[in-house]
Amino acid sequence: MASRAKFVAGNWKMHGSLESSVQLASAVSEGTASLSGVGVIVCPVSAHIVSVNQAIENSSVKVGAQNAHHENSGAFTGELSASMLSDLGCEYLIVGHSERRQLFGETDQQVADKVEAALGHDVTPIFCVGETLEEREAGNLEAVINQQLSAVVQRVGIDAFAKVIVAYEPVWAIGTGKTASPEQAQEVHAMIRTMLSSHSTEVATAVSILYGGSVKPGNANDLFSQADIDGGLIGGAALDADSFIAICQAASAV
Ligand code: PGA
Repeated sequence: MASRAKFVAGNWKMHGSLESSVQLASAVSEGTASLSGVGVIVCPVSAHIVSVNQAIENSSVKVGAQNAHHENSGAFTGELSASMLSDLGCEYLIVGHSERRQLFGETDQQVADKVEAALGHDVTPIFCVGETLEEREAGNLEAVINQQLSAVVQRVGIDAFAKVIVAYEPVWAIGTGKTASPEQAQEVHAMIRTMLSSHSTEVATAVSILYGGSVKPGNANDLFSQADIDGGLIGGAALDADSFIAICQAASAV
């Protein structure tokens, strides 16, 4: 993976008080200050973004959001746009997380809309793909990933992937404690890269592909050592500063 950019992003989901989010962000910024070779991103709830951004000012940690509406503005009660999040200092946006797809019915087309909206505001999408256990067991892994990827490639074009981070998150591994084995994860990461290389080898070689799904300090090193794994998207373990920092250290060390 030599020259590819590595990232560790913490997806805090709908957790934390304003106070605890600021504390966590400060601890992460202190604990990762000396690390090199890894981009560290924290994604708090949108309501905490401004305060978290202040807490990590002058550090290399960046802030991301967990969701955005694809339109810039309009009569969409309760929604936030990528441009508004960008105004708040968000440089990253998680798009197409399986919880958005499963619990909020986001389709591949809506995911593509959001990736396009983020790119339009210089916000880097962390674009998530992943199969359910049923899909994997039915032998549909490749088809599912291909469909999720293709919807976005068709919309924004392969060259735009120079500014996209992909995250492979098998749904069966998210929040379950069941991590994909490093070999299972590597196999899918390589598959994603091959799919992208059918459009552009150059872009496919350069794109960072993160693994997500029960990454912990104890398994991070084995996962991040795989040839096509360029860091992680971390849920549960990102809520504990020491665990998250240890995972960032593992990414920095490989
Ligand atoms: P997890 O979540 O690390 O708690 O499995 C990962 C994610 O949902 O991005």
